[in-house]
Amino acid sequence: MRKKSALRSISVKVEPPSSLTPAERTSILEVCARLRPLDGPLIPILHGIQSALGYVPNDGVPLIAAELNLSRAEVHGVVTFYHYFRKERPGRHVVHVCRAEACQSVGAVALETHAKKVLGIDFHQTTPDGAVSLEPVYCLGNCALGPSVMIDDRLQGRVSPKRFDALIAKARAQT
Ligand code: FES
Repeated sequence: MRKKSALRSISVKVEPPSSLTPAERTSILEVCARLRPLDGPLIPILHGIQSALGYVPNDGVPLIAAELNLSRAEVHGVVTFYHYFRKERPGRHVVHVCRAEACQSVGAVALETHAKKVLGIDFHQTTPDGAVSLEPVYCLGNCALGPSVMIDDRLQGRVSPKRFDALIAKARAQT
């Protein structure tokens, strides 16, 4: 009869390496430390991270969960519930096209179609060269001057398809 081995096998779950850069990690920890004292800190923290990094990285979820003593599923559930939170690293320029009613009544639908066509992407996507991300927005508070577009932090009014092309060319030339 064979002797039973004294050694038992133990299964160890190996986490895949994180894609977070050291700077992203530091930023996430800084935002968590700053906003954790708030009542219901998760949403403000996610906003803070998106504001600092331009998105909420998937690999940041375990870090946020650990900092807030929540499960990963809880944090992941909130990040995915709100479309506002971007899950992918954004392009060098983020273009928001207003889809609300006042802008739609003065040409925003045609502008949106044009933007998607010339950039070759849909909403929530980034051009393959990483230059431009396209996002929808529902009113930029510039209704009297629609169609309105926000390119990075700059609000633009009365944006025709032709002007859109010029603004994008200018943005691309900056990087
Ligand atoms: S509806 Fe477009 S800015 Fe208000």
